[in-house]
Amino acid sequence: MASSPGRAVFFLLLSLVLLGDLCCCSCSQVYVVYMGKGLQGDSDRQHDDVIRLHNQMLTAVHDGSLEKAQASHVYTYSSSFQGFAAKLNKEQATKLAEMPGVVSVFPNTKRRLHTTRSWDFMGLSTNAEGEVPGLSTKNQENVIVGFIDTGIWPESPSFSDHGMPPAPKRWRGQCQRGEANSPSNFTCNRKIIGGRYYLNGYQTEEGGLSKNAFKFVSPRDSSGHGSHTASIAAGRFVRNMNYGGLGTGGGRGGAPLARIAAYKACWDSGCYDVDILAAFNDAIRDGVDIISVSLGPDYPQGDYFSDAISIGSFHATSNGILVVSSAGNAGRQGSATNLAPWMLTVAAGTTDRSFVSYIRLANGTFLMGESLSTYHMKTSIRTIPASEANAGYFTPYQSSFCLDSSLNRTKARGKILICRHTKGSPESRVSTSMVVKEAGAAGMILIDEMGDHVANHFAVPGTSVGREIGNKILSYIKSTRHASSMILPAKTILGLRGGPRIAAFSSRGPSSLTPEILKPDVAAPGLNILAAWSPAKNNMHFNILSGTSMACPHVTGIAALVKSIYPSWSPSAIKSAIMTTATVLNKRRRTITTDPDGKAATPFDFGSGFMDPIKALNPGIIFDAQPEDYRSFLCATIHDDHSLHLITGDNSTCTHRTSSCASALNYPSITIPYLKKSYSVTRTMTNVGNPRCTYRAVVSAPRGINVTVTPEILNFESYGAKKTFTVSFHVDVPPRGYAFGSISWHGHGRNARLTMPLVVKV
Ligand SMILES: *[C@@H]1O[C@H](CO)[C@@H](O)[C@H](O)[C@H]1NC(C)=O
Ligand SMILES: *[C@@H]1O[C@H](CO)[C@@H](O)[C@H](O)[C@H]1NC(C)=O
Ligand SMILES: *[C@@H]1O[C@H](CO)[C@@H](O)[C@H](O)[C@H]1NC(C)=O
Ligand SMILES: *[C@@H]1O[C@H](CO)[C@@H](O)[C@H](O)[C@H]1NC(C)=O
Ligand SMILES: *[C@@H]1O[C@H](CO)[C@@H](O)[C@H](O)[C@H]1NC(C)=O
Repeated sequence: MASSPGRAVFFLLLSLVLLGDLCCCSCSQVYVVYMGKGLQGDSDRQHDDVIRLHNQMLTAVHDGSLEKAQASHVYTYSSSFQGFAAKLNKEQATKLAEMPGVVSVFPNTKRRLHTTRSWDFMGLSTNAEGEVPGLSTKNQENVIVGFIDTGIWPESPSFSDHGMPPAPKRWRGQCQRGEANSPSNFTCNRKIIGGRYYLNGYQTEEGGLSKNAFKFVSPRDSSGHGSHTASIAAGRFVRNMNYGGLGTGGGRGGAPLARIAAYKACWDSGCYDVDILAAFNDAIRDGVDIISVSLGPDYPQGDYFSDAISIGSFHATSNGILVVSSAGNAGRQGSATNLAPWMLTVAAGTTDRSFVSYIRLANGTFLMGESLSTYHMKTSIRTIPASEANAGYFTPYQSSFCLDSSLNRTKARGKILICRHTKGSPESRVSTSMVVKEAGAAGMILIDEMGDHVANHFAVPGTSVGREIGNKILSYIKSTRHASSMILPAKTILGLRGGPRIAAFSSRGPSSLTPEILKPDVAAPGLNILAAWSPAKNNMHFNILSGTSMACPHVTGIAALVKSIYPSWSPSAIKSAIMTTATVLNKRRRTITTDPDGKAATPFDFGSGFMDPIKALNPGIIFDAQPEDYRSFLCATIHDDHSLHLITGDNSTCTHRTSSCASALNYPSITIPYLKKSYSVTRTMTNVGNPRCTYRAVVSAPRGINVTVTPEILNFESYGAKKTFTVSFHVDVPPRGYAFGSISWHGHGRNARLTMPLVVKV
């Protein structure tokens, strides 16, 4: 089974597979004991002090037994932030939570992992080395991007170090080789300058590694996901990148000369909090510039300080490292995750490429489906609805979804089965095709009610169609006694639809945690993306996947380019550059729409809009935020000086802050979730373009709301100058639900326009 092509996408589609809740009440489980920034300094003595303190705490809850304490210990976090992970029962966890110095104690939760054409589609045409005409991005070589993912396949042509200089001198990372003398061993090169792996959390929770040969105990990628995401962001140019002949052409990442450090915290079934935290801790100390995390919690997300990605990214940002993350694949309103304002959270959109596989009905009609299946079917084959092939006590209705063992082999053998798939289907599309294969069928047509245009892998010749075309096929079958059809191999089609659109699966805002912060922040391509893969899976070197997991590294790549041009910029400056220059218009200059229903997209779908890589490199103006600003934000959201003190490790307090409100953060978007009569917020712009320039505000007010900007005109007289403006909202005719608008700042010159979305609810 493991070698069927269908298996290959299982991991990416994890978000669609229900994993049982691992609840454990009487017995013990792993907890994170998070202690904020804690003692500072990297000296051995301080490190020893920290370990001693953690030991004392653990021993205390184990009735003084040092032995038991050591047996329960899983990790120590002791550099950028402090705390530890240990196996505890509920009572012990509660006791620890009450000890001084502890910010939060939370159970170790498992997180899920949520091209190249895509760059041309976005207008980033560069040469093979990623040089953008008119801008020097040579400095990419000094930008180090850390990926917290499933590891990496260092021998992939996407990660060749041909012609690259040695790693930057400041780099403090490591290359863990893993088990010696096994195919698992791992070597870095001048492109992949670091590789580490984190197994403790996974091993403690899942009882060690099974015999599964794909699980390399090293930073080597057995899943493919990590190689895919890293190559989207920073892969080298590969002349003939394709998957089974699909998507043929040159492919590369956004910043092909940037360095890669792989932090493997994700294993075949997901990524545990305690491993993720250890990865963040090392990445911050190693000296990465950007961290890319294509994974996230299930929604609704827990508090910022009981979630490893929020905690890790907070400390990363405090150390000047931008964290780019995926919004999730749940599709629904309010399902976005990775909500912390210090992260750059990415939604998924389409490009203009699709993978099309036609169905030829025996009556001569051709119908269009989508697929990655390149099998050549030689003749027309008898075609029946799967409901007619029900086995044993399965009802025809159950069998119509091609559920595991619901098909009768005698009835299915040698035929094309028509199966259905809906949002609530218990099995992924790929596993459905494996059920069909096991029943001995010759092919399948999947009527997919999700309508998300994800081109699927099939274990048998197959294609998926929407409900409308599905009904045509069913009516053809009813109309004849011997219905048959032929599935043609998939082809690549370019420029098919007026993209980009927002993908149906991409998780939507508003933020369930802090509605004052708009999430997701920005959209990038995430549908049917071709990139590097791990040959440990089916010996494939490239693969096509869909998900916000693929959208995130598109933004990571551009963030690396921005960082290479402006090495001194803060994480929020880079984030602002990408957000304010994004576009809300598609290639036909109309508002971007959403799949599957074609409605106009709102900021809850795409945040500030679809990323524009070229404009992001020259934003003119940024909305900057410093660690102090995130502290004020925390004051407004956690209302607790003591925790704040522990988290940040300094003497900042909330009490003397006047504008303690989450909307006050200098964010490149404005969201007012509880507008009564009127409300004002201020924002500060920093000039990073021409020293002398003027910007004029053009308001597009949300329906029923009067919006004024004062002053309307801002004159800058030097590089780095800051100007503050106030945006006042007055309710005129209360709109129902959320209303959306924007403020555009128009300057002189070609590129000088930036936009901030406005989101209001009365
Ligand atoms: C792992 O190391 C052994 C011994 O050094 C070597 O023979 C083997 O080729 C290595 N495997 C890989 C995949 O690099
Ligand atoms: C499968 O179908 C055949 C032919 O209709 C029938 O004889 C057999 O009992 C069925 N088996 C199951 C398990 O339903
Ligand atoms: C074939 O059948 C389909 C579905 O019933 C129908 O829409 C189509 O017109 C038919 N084509 C021809 C050539 O009869
Ligand atoms: C915090 O305040 C204490 C007591 O006033 C002082 O000793 C310490 O240096 C301060 N710490 C920081 C990080 O400013
Ligand atoms: C909103 O603007 C309109 C048009 O300028 C004006 O008539 C109305 O009184 C304003 N409403 C409020 C609440 O300011």
